[in-house]
Amino acid sequence: MSVHVVILAAGQGSRMKSNLPKVLHPLAGKSLLHHVVENAENLGTAGTHIVIGHGAELVRESFKNITTSNDIHWSIQEQQLGTGHAVAQALPNVPDDVTVLILYGDVPLTNTQTLNALLKHVSEKSIALLTVALEDPSGYGRIVRDSSGFVTSIVEQKDATPQQLAINEINTGILAAPASKLKEWLPKLSNSNAQGEYYLTDIIAMAVDDQMEVAVAHPACEEEVQGINNRVQLAALERWYQAQQAKRLMTEGATVIDPSRLDVRGNVTIGKDVFLDINVVLEGDVELAEGVVIGPNCIIKNSKIGRNTTIHANSIVEDSSVGESVNVGPFARLRPGTQLANKSKVGNFVETKKAIVGEGSKINHLSYVGDAELGTNVNVGAGTITCNYDGVNKFKTEIADDVFVGSNSSLVAPVKIGKKATIGAGSTVTKEVEAEQLAVARGKQRNVDGWKRPVKQ
Ligand code: UD1
Ligand code: CA
Repeated sequence: MSVHVVILAAGQGSRMKSNLPKVLHPLAGKSLLHHVVENAENLGTAGTHIVIGHGAELVRESFKNITTSNDIHWSIQEQQLGTGHAVAQALPNVPDDVTVLILYGDVPLTNTQTLNALLKHVSEKSIALLTVALEDPSGYGRIVRDSSGFVTSIVEQKDATPQQLAINEINTGILAAPASKLKEWLPKLSNSNAQGEYYLTDIIAMAVDDQMEVAVAHPACEEEVQGINNRVQLAALERWYQAQQAKRLMTEGATVIDPSRLDVRGNVTIGKDVFLDINVVLEGDVELAEGVVIGPNCIIKNSKIGRNTTIHANSIVEDSSVGESVNVGPFARLRPGTQLANKSKVGNFVETKKAIVGEGSKINHLSYVGDAELGTNVNVGAGTITCNYDGVNKFKTEIADDVFVGSNSSLVAPVKIGKKATIGAGSTVTKEVEAEQLAVARGKQRNVDGWKRPVKQ
């Protein structure tokens, strides 16, 4: 049976004390709901349905620029009348002959393996529940079993008898069932219970009445089924997630100086012997090849870094690609579109943007190089600026191989500098310089003999 996922995300999340709907709060740089959608799609689900209510427009909009493998079907639940009522809003869009997997928008980190194990139990004759035994089960629905150990119902905390309250196996809320059965059962739910809600959990007893088996699967750990109700829980789950990421990177061969001071907000792949110093943030798609060293306080976002390259302290690298044996920083900023070839160097207080820097070229100090193409073995002196912008349009600076740019030069684009040309320090270059020429474009030095300094009156 193919699987359609229904994600419940209509609740307000008032304990977040936020204008942002709860499911849009970020964990590791991605909204809670986005995590849930990704987890579901990792299963190869055939349909994705999200039930929204509070902040519906914001939630829907948050997916505008996100590519998902399924088109999302949105269902509006105008009033939050309970989890059973919520699922019922999505069902008209769900075909009869599929398995429905129910997830919560505020439970972000459920493992693919766990969900697969759950789904395996679902058939025409069986539904499946994800349950876990908690030391403190308070607040959760309890799993009621008969004397032979078969699950017979779920009873909510507020409806439970004292004996039932003592049960520590709880309902995570995640379950899977045939769509055809849900379509039979949900219209029969009643709200005559302690909370006056249509409880999804009441379908368990209905399944038992229908002679169906209620199978049970468990997560590998509690964090997988941890829901977020407030910012304290959000921070705790974020730290757990980050600890997992650090562990994974260490297992794959990274030295992580302090696992509690590394943050991964995306997909990071690494080679062996990567070294990550403290307070490193890796965002988006990041590839660090063997032997890469990232110094303290660096942010690397959507970038590829080649073998044995060092990004020194306090540098920011974004949407860039950096070759092998390159040195960047300290205090460098590579903005989008920077491509540094092997053995190049971008030193302290240098900003680059859309800059292609050839092999062995150096921009060592205090420069801005934007919309520029540099050949191999170019030396850009301290304080050099590519003047790429006239206030309206951007223009390109082209610097050929083996050029030497003296310190404190301004290269006013569009401009080309030919092979092996030399620019005298302090020049403002506005015209093309041909190969092997020297260009000096600055006021000539004048020395005045016996100059008397002004005196105070
Ligand atoms: C539910 C379960 C409980 C389980 C617990 C796990 C029911 C009746 N109870 O309880 O057995 O132990 O989750 O956390 O199912 N939602 C809607 N629309 C609604 C109501 C809820 O979209 O009308 C969404 C919420 O936004 C949330 C999820 O469903 O994401 C769960 O709702 P919540 O109110 O937290 O359920 P609990 O009462 O905690
Ligand atoms: Ca809850």
